[in-house]
Amino acid sequence: MERTLVLLKPDAVRRGLVGHVLSRFEAKGLGIVAMELRTITGDQADAHYAEHVERDFYPPLREFATSGPLVALVLEGDEAIAVVRALNGATDGRQAAPGTIRGDLSLSNRENLVHASDSAESAEREIALWFPDL
Ligand code: TYD
Ligand code: MG
Repeated sequence: MERTLVLLKPDAVRRGLVGHVLSRFEAKGLGIVAMELRTITGDQADAHYAEHVERDFYPPLREFATSGPLVALVLEGDEAIAVVRALNGATDGRQAAPGTIRGDLSLSNRENLVHASDSAESAEREIALWFPDL
C-alpha cells in the first residue's frame, strides 16, 4: 500500500466537481485516509509549491491556489502515487488525454483541477506538510 497527497484545487470546488472527481478516485479502488476543505495562505502555497516558487508561472499560480477553498486529501492504494498521476492526466488540460480527469474536465494549463504527489519523496513531504498528524 502507498499513500499520496491530492488536492482538488479551487477550480474544482468552484465548478462543483469535488464529488465527481472524488468518485473517480473511489471507483478506481483508492481509499480516503484523510480529507479536509481548506483555504490556504500564500505562505502555505509557497511551501507546497517549493520547487516552483522561482518560476515565471508561479505568481499567478499562487494567486489561483489561494483564491478560494480547496479539498486536501490523502489517498491510499497499491501504487497509489503513479495511479493517481495517471488518472489526473498531463498538466495542461488542453493536452491531457481524454479519459483522464484533466483531459475530460480542464481546458487550462493552470486551472487543472487536481494536484497529486509525483514521487515517494514528494508524497512523504507533502503528506507531512498538509496532514502532520498522520
Ligand atoms: P507541475 O508540477 O509541473 O505540474 P503537475 O501539477 O502536473 O505536477 O506544475 C504545478 C502546477 O503549476 C500545475 O498543476 C499547474 C501550474 N502550472 C502553470 O500554471 N503553468 C505552467 O506552465 C506549468 C508547467 C504549471
Ligand atoms: Mg507537480
